[in-house]
Amino acid sequence: MKDIYIIANWKSNKTAGETNAWFSKIADLEKNRKNRPAHLHIILCVPYTVLYISKQHIASYKLPYHIGSQNISPFPHGSYTGEINGSQIKEFGEYVIIGHSERRELFHETEQHLQQKVMQAKVAGLKIIYCISDEAQYIPKEVDLIAFEPISAIGTGNAFDPDKAEAISAKINKRFPEIPIIYGGSVSKENINNFLSKPDISGVLLGKASLDASDFFTILTWI
Ligand code: PGA
Repeated sequence: MKDIYIIANWKSNKTAGETNAWFSKIADLEKNRKNRPAHLHIILCVPYTVLYISKQHIASYKLPYHIGSQNISPFPHGSYTGEINGSQIKEFGEYVIIGHSERRELFHETEQHLQQKVMQAKVAGLKIIYCISDEAQYIPKEVDLIAFEPISAIGTGNAFDPDKAEAISAKINKRFPEIPIIYGGSVSKENINNFLSKPDISGVLLGKASLDASDFFTILTWI
């Protein structure tokens, strides 16, 4: 059975109080879960401000989840006001998202920035979830997961056609046979299986659908 990755991207959502409530709710639901498939990897990419408490909740509630950040400084530690570097993330998380289309578009991240970020993540020992919105975009060979997220599907409620997502994932898979391909963009409990049933898609990246603990838990139990 292939490994499946369910990645939550909370984006710029949740205060510490809301994070506490999310974990308390999901821990309650997880208590009664009978089946925790070993091939299922659950990664929560949370805001920097709640990395610490998320790690604490996962340990204290004994949840089988991993933590990631949504960004990383392109620089090491030092005089880079406002930046969070790889070793600071590594204290709390194992993964980092690099190249999300919101960062490319709204924060003007260039291929050069992304290369620097990939390098910093590698130096820190973080696993990289690398996002592309188009198969023509450059993919560094050092990444651990590739997330294909077409712009038209992100946050719009209009998921991509699963057959088209599969065709593009198959092409990427040919170029990077060792790296799992994830689909992202308006995935919900209603459509998730249309993507996970495809042979070249090994998981999903969930934005909106990860914000409510009950919805997120429902998705986990369907796999
Ligand atoms: P969405 O976000 O699920 O809300 O469309 C996905 C993403 O941007 O990673």
